[in-house]
Amino acid sequence: MKEQLNDIKKKAKEDILTAQTESELEEIRVKYLGKKGLLTGILRGMGKLSAEERPIIGALANSVRQDLENYIEQMRISIKKKELQERLINEKIDVTLPSNSKRIGKLHPITQIENRLKEIFLAMGFEVMEGPEVETSYNNFDALNASSDHPSRDYSDTFYITPNTLLRTQTSPVQVRTMRNRKPPIRIISPGRVYRYDQVDATHSPMFHQIEGLVVDKNITMGDLKGTLANFATSFFGENTKTRFRPHNFPFTEPSAEVDVSCFICGGKGCRLCKGEGWIEILGAGMVHPNVLAGCGIDPDEYSGFAFGAGIERIVMIKYNINDMRLLFDNDLRFLQQF
Ligand code: DAH
Repeated sequence: MKEQLNDIKKKAKEDILTAQTESELEEIRVKYLGKKGLLTGILRGMGKLSAEERPIIGALANSVRQDLENYIEQMRISIKKKELQERLINEKIDVTLPSNSKRIGKLHPITQIENRLKEIFLAMGFEVMEGPEVETSYNNFDALNASSDHPSRDYSDTFYITPNTLLRTQTSPVQVRTMRNRKPPIRIISPGRVYRYDQVDATHSPMFHQIEGLVVDKNITMGDLKGTLANFATSFFGENTKTRFRPHNFPFTEPSAEVDVSCFICGGKGCRLCKGEGWIEILGAGMVHPNVLAGCGIDPDEYSGFAFGAGIERIVMIKYNINDMRLLFDNDLRFLQQF
């Protein structure tokens, strides 16, 4: 029996050393020390031993059990250590690898430009006003001095909701709302959406954005208008930008002008962006018509004002040299990500 015990001890030791994982080790423990294990089997047979032999074999069996338990425990520790080492190596993070970075959204180019325009005019002391997109025909046309047969009133140009309400075709009615609700001095800009019954093409969309400007105070002159727009042009297009006023006609201003900026690509020599002109049209402007002031409860003998209005898509397209307005509304990320 003594030999059997030593034999078991030797075999068990060898087995233990081959274990690679904790579960393999557990199998080995059960094989020798479990209820039906080899060592346990031997201990069961001790009843057959003589009274002298029993304590000796008993002591030996216990010391073998103790030894095996110690081996197993040591092996368990070393397996754990090895597993930890392996995990540390396998799960090592290379912090120099490029990350699977999240794609971060950004503002649409129209919004970016709108924000820039606001910034420039806020710095000049303007405040931002908003007006509704569903407007009265009165505010959109009549109060702005548009004659009753003005072509823009036509059903083929304007989305009417009822004969007296419509989707505003311009941001100019915000002028009317502001003048009616406030006393001069007034110095506002008003960006927002406007709507026209237009077929979609490279330069038209039934919905687009405008920004309106209005200043009303005592002694406001065309010089103030020119200075304001010149300052806007240099802030927005660059220091060397010049402005040019061409006579035009709008019902709500007198005199009226279309305003060009010198081409910021070629500096006025003529290039593809300005189509060889050297100048690019950016907005409409003028001195607020006395009829408009009076209609809004402001005495034209005491006060005068200027106004201007620009299409934001147009400015975005000029600034970024975009040749098709539809790109701004298609929401194709390949396009939008460039801004
Ligand atoms: N409302 C005009 C348009 O939609 C633009 C405009 C021109 C606005 C001259 C103004 C202005 O305030 O003074 O075409």
